Amino acid sequence: MDYALIGNHPAIQKIRELIALASDTDLNVLLLGETGTGKEVVARLLHSASSRKNNRFIKVNCAALPMTLLESELFGYEKGAFTGADKFKPGKFELASEGVIFLDEIGDMPLLLQAKLLEVLQSNEFSRLGGTDVVKVRTWVVASTNHVLEKDIKDGRFREDLYYRLNVIRIELPPLRERTEDIGLLVDHFVGKYRKELNIEDFSINAKLEELFKAYPWPGNIRELSSFLLRLMIGDDPALVQSEIVAGMSSEETHFFAGNPLPNRMDEVLKRETLAVAPSLKVIKARAAEEIERKAIVTALNKTAWNKREAAKILKISYKALFNKLNSLGIRRGL
Ligand SMILES: Nc1ncnc2c1ncn2[C@@H]1O[C@H](COP(=O)(O)OP(=O)(O)O)[C@@H](O)[C@H]1O
Ligand SMILES: [Mg+2]
Repeated sequence: MDYALIGNHPAIQKIRELIALASDTDLNVLLLGETGTGKEVVARLLHSASSRKNNRFIKVNCAALPMTLLESELFGYEKGAFTGADKFKPGKFELASEGVIFLDEIGDMPLLLQAKLLEVLQSNEFSRLGGTDVVKVRTWVVASTNHVLEKDIKDGRFREDLYYRLNVIRIELPPLRERTEDIGLLVDHFVGKYRKELNIEDFSINAKLEELFKAYPWPGNIRELSSFLLRLMIGDDPALVQSEIVAGMSSEETHFFAGNPLPNRMDEVLKRETLAVAPSLKVIKARAAEEIERKAIVTALNKTAWNKREAAKILKISYKALFNKLNSLGIRRGL
């Protein structure tokens, strides 16, 4: 993962200024934006721009764990706190003291834990599960979510008092479709990055595809753009990628924009495009092929206890190719 924040859109320039300002403070930061817009990039840049940069940056995904596990992950436990707690374990809050704790997907944190988090934010101290000793911390809290928290508050899913505690420095990442002027820069950035990683001499995107890129709504934002480019560069059929983009603009795939009419420009591009909308069978085939690939890769990894070099040998591909496959297919251990 690289932590460049590419873009010249005014919102991105503003974010750069905010990062510089915020990094001199210990004020809580709330990062808002759709998935793939760069919230984690900003969190990491906040850390590396701050005087805490030599201390830890610890990310906790608040959506990934049930309440009690998340609680012990955050605050740790004493030996004997519960069945199976056979030794003391420090929590992430403690480990990140003097550094940064990145509370990812905070909008998904269970309400009860939100109450505890609020207390910790107010006092900078807590006790580990099953313990009475008070642990004092100086952890910088950066939280992020793709939820509209104001709505969650109305619906009773997020505590208003916690929201105000977190929302001290608020940074909103715009969706990619609202900063299409940055697409050229981002394409150059990712093409350059993958050329290096994949050892590709030359590669460029044709003007037609770039125009489609600008009209496509990018529900997965920059993450999706980067994986489209990676797929093109590892040799996926450009016509197939192109047809997926066009398919992505059709009504069934645009539920992300419920209530939001698609930009008119998209219709224009679609009308002008001589590109036939691919028969969806093609897309189905591609997805099926991806599934088979995924299965083969996971099987090889499991066989080798996730030793990537060994797994690449079994699959008869290079280590690098395997690495990129893991990236583009989003395969991670434990998924
Ligand atoms: N402005 C940007 N410039 C370059 N790469 C970016 C930018 N924003 C996001 N990315 C890349 O896109 C991907 C998704 O970003 P991430 O920060 O994980 O998004 P989020 O946390 O909002 O889901 C990552 O690979 C990240 O490096
Ligand atoms: Mg994220």
